[in-house]
Amino acid sequence: MTTLGEELKHSIESLDEVSDSPNLDAQTLFADRMGKSKAWILAHPEAELPVKTHHSIQADIIQLKNRVPLPYVLGHWEFYGLDFILTQDTLIPRPETELLVEQALNYLSQHPKKKWAADVGTGSGCIAIALAKTKPNLSFIATDISYPALKVAHENASRHDVAKRIQFIQSDLLPPVNQPYDLICANLPYIPADLLPTLKVAKGEPALALDGGLNGLEIIGRFLESAPHWISPGGCLLIEIEQSQGPLVQSLARRAFPLAETNVLKDLAGFDRLVTIQLPEKKSSNED
Ligand SMILES: C[S@@+](CC[C@H](N)C(=O)[O-])C[C@H]1O[C@@H](n2cnc3c(N)ncnc32)[C@H](O)[C@@H]1O
Repeated sequence: MTTLGEELKHSIESLDEVSDSPNLDAQTLFADRMGKSKAWILAHPEAELPVKTHHSIQADIIQLKNRVPLPYVLGHWEFYGLDFILTQDTLIPRPETELLVEQALNYLSQHPKKKWAADVGTGSGCIAIALAKTKPNLSFIATDISYPALKVAHENASRHDVAKRIQFIQSDLLPPVNQPYDLICANLPYIPADLLPTLKVAKGEPALALDGGLNGLEIIGRFLESAPHWISPGGCLLIEIEQSQGPLVQSLARRAFPLAETNVLKDLAGFDRLVTIQLPEKKSSNED
């Protein structure tokens, strides 16, 4: 019989060479597989590890040692307080993307009549689903170029009971629309192609979700060129960026939307992370 404490210690030692946070990774894995909290795992080293759980954890450790990221091994991850199913077709949602969600919620709270939104490059669906869950009158078109990612996003929307308000469409950026959007959220690939192979953090995640081409701005640039067709007067666009791209994306945004107010916001680590574009409301005819 193996105790939890012994096996946890073994696992931490095995992960030491492949992880920057072997303690946390092992605790998270054990907590998930045993259906307990991390605090419980630490407080019960004497607990007996059921044989089945022991075998499943050993298989997980092999995957982690092969450098499969922990969220893919677990098959799910948390974003904005919600649990999202993940596969290797979907980007692992990042905490810094919560800034985009918070800004979208600010805009929607200040403009309560706006309720038609798009999420471009939806991946696991985390942005659209977090927003639809928080704002019950909001409806979305959520697109991705990857069909396997869209299937995961749809499954997540069903789990969180918002599938009726989010239409998932496979598309390059956004399909043509009859009704322009009030809000467009875009977390598109933005890593410069030549930087991608050097990034440890990007190992194991889909290149389609990360590779932003030359200087990282090929897809965002194309998005901004087309965006004036998709957004309504008074609408808001939120674009997540890589930390070095603030000034360049802001100038592309100003070129696409000369009358809009554009800003670059920093994430909690102090890096440029989000470009916001707020369009003016159309003047009514008697204002002219
Ligand atoms: C950085 S990931 C973001 C995923 C998710 N929104 C998130 O925040 O975790 C970018 C996503 O955009 C998708 N994508 C890449 N190129 C695209 C394009 N031209 N049109 C639509 N989606 C695209 C990728 O498949 C990927 O799911």
